[in-house]
Amino acid sequence: MAQRILLITSSLFGEGGQSSALAASFKSALEGRDVELVERNVVEQALPHLTGAEMTSWMTEPGERSADQQALARISDDLLAEVVASDVLVLAVPLYNLGIPSQLKSWFDRILRAGKTFQYTANGPVGLLEGKSGLILAARGGMYAGTEMDSQTPHLKHMLRLMGIEDVHTIYAEGLNMGEDRKQQSLKEAQQAIGQYVARRF
Ligand SMILES: Cc1cc2nc3c(=O)[nH]c(=O)nc-3n(C[C@H](O)[C@H](O)[C@H](O)COP(=O)(O)O)c2cc1C
Repeated sequence: MAQRILLITSSLFGEGGQSSALAASFKSALEGRDVELVERNVVEQALPHLTGAEMTSWMTEPGERSADQQALARISDDLLAEVVASDVLVLAVPLYNLGIPSQLKSWFDRILRAGKTFQYTANGPVGLLEGKSGLILAARGGMYAGTEMDSQTPHLKHMLRLMGIEDVHTIYAEGLNMGEDRKQQSLKEAQQAIGQYVARRF
């Protein structure tokens, strides 16, 4: 059966972004493979920050929700359905101010939902998603991978692990704002790594 991939993009610069270029390399590497691809651009979608009213709508039984609450709950429900339907979650992520884009945080705030993607137990939280893997395509202006300054990819992996997604591979394109030579070299290496990942995985 075809693997189902959910590709999340989160660049402020749309298709012109460097992280979007990594997403584009991933898509072209997929050509001819037996996969189903769903794309979600969380910047284009312009999700607002999560509010108490929206969270309350999730905690209200579906049959008891007001019309407003039904509309609010649908935002998260629809995003969650895409995640649940996927086998592989691919996140194309720029590094902004040492973190993830706030739009991507807004997306995670809708899918990290107690009772849906994880649950609290006496031994701590347990992920409820099974059999899924993740790929992070990380674009950065500077060089941070593997240093204590890189709190971004550990944060992403923790959020994925919270939902039960533990098999996560990361491909970096770093030093993109450190001169044209380094940028081209970095993008080339990332593109090769993406090709190898796709060949191995699909
Ligand atoms: C608002 C903003 C904040 C940034 N913060 C950082 C940073 O903290 N560290 C870094 O290495 N690069 C930083 N950069 C550079 C981006 O990580 C880099 O240009 C990356 O390729 C952006 O991907 P994009 O083109 O898809 O947005 C920042 C860029 C922007 C626009």
